[in-house]
Amino acid sequence: MGIRPTGVLLLLWLFVGCCESETGHFWHVTDMHWDPTYNETNAALSCNPGTPAHGPFGKFGIFSCDPPWLLLESAFDFMKHHGIKVDFVMWTGDDTPHIWDDKVLNMEWVHEIIAAQTELIKETFPNVTVFSAMGNHDWSPKNELPPRSDHFYNQVYNLWEAWIPDDGEETFKHGAFYSAPINDDLEMVVLNTNLYYDSNSQTKNMYDPANQLQWFDDVMTGIEQDGRKAMVMAHVPPGMFEKHANKSWFYPDYNEAFLRFAKKHAGAIGSIHMAHHHTDSFRLLYGDNDQPLLPIFLAPALSPWETTLPGVMGGKGNNPSLRLVEYERETGSIVNINQYWSNLTLANLQGTAKWVLEYAATDYYGIENMDGNSLEALVQSMKLDRDLFDKYYSANGVQFDPNEEWDADTQNVHICAIQNLHYADFALCMQEANRAGSHDPSALVFLSAVLLSAFSLSYIT
Ligand SMILES: *[C@@H]1O[C@H](CO)[C@@H](O)[C@H](O)[C@H]1NC(C)=O
Ligand SMILES: *[C@@H]1O[C@H](CO)[C@@H](O)[C@H](O)[C@H]1NC(C)=O
Ligand SMILES: *[C@@H]1O[C@H](CO)[C@@H](O)[C@H](O)[C@H]1NC(C)=O
Ligand SMILES: *[C@@H]1O[C@H](CO)[C@@H](O)[C@H](O)[C@H]1NC(C)=O
Repeated sequence: MGIRPTGVLLLLWLFVGCCESETGHFWHVTDMHWDPTYNETNAALSCNPGTPAHGPFGKFGIFSCDPPWLLLESAFDFMKHHGIKVDFVMWTGDDTPHIWDDKVLNMEWVHEIIAAQTELIKETFPNVTVFSAMGNHDWSPKNELPPRSDHFYNQVYNLWEAWIPDDGEETFKHGAFYSAPINDDLEMVVLNTNLYYDSNSQTKNMYDPANQLQWFDDVMTGIEQDGRKAMVMAHVPPGMFEKHANKSWFYPDYNEAFLRFAKKHAGAIGSIHMAHHHTDSFRLLYGDNDQPLLPIFLAPALSPWETTLPGVMGGKGNNPSLRLVEYERETGSIVNINQYWSNLTLANLQGTAKWVLEYAATDYYGIENMDGNSLEALVQSMKLDRDLFDKYYSANGVQFDPNEEWDADTQNVHICAIQNLHYADFALCMQEANRAGSHDPSALVFLSAVLLSAFSLSYIT
C-alpha cells in the first residue's frame, strides 16, 4: 500500500496552506499602571486611603495599590514562554500609577515609565509588531492630552518610532493617532480617544479635536475603497461604565460623533478594542433596524488597583490579567478570547505568580464566535439566565470575588451599558428596567395611571 504523492501534497496543503493562515493571535495588554514606589512595607504613592484593605502587602502587589515591576515582569515572562506565535501585540495605555499630585508625577517621570514599559515589550517581543495607544494617565497633568502638536507627543513618537509607519509620523506628532497595516487585507487604526474624555479640559467645546474624526472618516473611506478591513483600538471607550448607575467618559457631543462615524464604517470594521475600565466587558453597536453591527471589547487591567470612583456598584478591584485574542486575519473579526489571570492573593502566598487561563470565551459562554450576532445572543441569554450572568459578572472583575452577590439593579446596569452606547438610550433602558422591577414603587404608579386612563377612556367612548 502506498500513499500517492498527490495525496501527501493535499494533506500538506490542508495543514499548512489552507487553514493556518485564516486566523491569527495577538496579545492585548493594558492598564499596567506601574508604581515604581511600590514597597512591601511602606504604602506606595498610588495606594488608596485605608491601605492595606485586603490582607497584608505582598511581593506582587495588593488590591488598592498599583503594582510593582515584579508583577509586570511575571506577566511578560508568561507571554514570552507561552509558546504561541502572535502576529502582533496590542497595548492600550495607562502606564503610570494613580498618583494624584501631578507635581510629583511630572512629565519626566511619565516619560521614564512609558520608556521602561516600551523597553520591556521590545525585549519580550523582539521581532513582533506592536500597536500602541496612549491612555489618559500617560500625561502630566493627567487627562490633559492636547488636540495639537506637542513636544511630549514627539518624545513618545521617538520611543515608538519602530512601531509606527513613516506615514503615521505626522498624525502621531499632531495627536497620537495613526494607522498601520496588520497584513494586506487588514489595517490597524489607533485612535487617541483621550481627546474626547470629559476630564480633558484641553478639548472642551471643540468641533473635532485634532481633526481626528475627519481623519478617521478619510482613512476608513480609503480602506473601504481598497476592499480592505480595519481593526480599531484606543484607551477610553464611548458609552457608559457598566459598574455605575450613570457614569460616562466622553463629552456628550463627542460620544455621538464617534458613534456616528463608527456606525458609518461598521461594515469595514471587524472589531474595536478598548480598556480604561479595568474590567472585562463588551459593548454592542447597533444599526438603524436594531441589528448588531459591531462589538467593542473592553479588556481588563494588569493593575489590581481598586477604583475610588464614588458610586461604583460591587467589587472595586480586579486580579491581574492579560488576554490572548484569536482573530480572522482577513476581516479583523474576533473568533475567540483567551483570558489569562494571576490570582494575586495566591501569588503573594506562594512567592511566585502563576498565570493561568481564566476562560476561553466561546466555551465559557457557549457561543460560536465573538461576532456581533453571537454576542447579541449572549446578552439576550444573560438577561434571563442567572448562572450565565453570574459567569460574566465573575469575569468582569477577573475573579476578584467569585462569590459576590449581585442584585437586579446591578444586572440592569451591565445589560443596559452593553446594549446602549448613546447616553439617552442608556437612560431610557434604565428607566424601563426600573419600571419593570417589581419592587419599584414607580411601577405601581405607572400601572395605576394606565388603569385610570383606561377607566376614563371607557366613559368617554
Ligand atoms: C520600603 O521603603 C522604606 C522607606 O522608603 C525603606 O526604608 C525600606 O527599605 C523599603 N523596603 C523594601 C523592602 O524595599
Ligand atoms: C529578529 O530578526 C532579526 C533580523 O530579521 C534576526 O536576526 C533575529 O534572530 C530575530 N530575533 C528573534 C528572537 O527572532
Ligand atoms: C446622568 O448624569 C448626567 C451628567 O452627569 C446628568 O446630566 C443626568 O441627569 C444623569 N441622569 C440620571 C438619570 O441621573
Ligand atoms: C485565590 O487564591 C486564594 C488563596 O489561595 C484563594 O483563597 C481564593 O479562593 C483564590 N481565588 C479564586 C477565585 O480562585
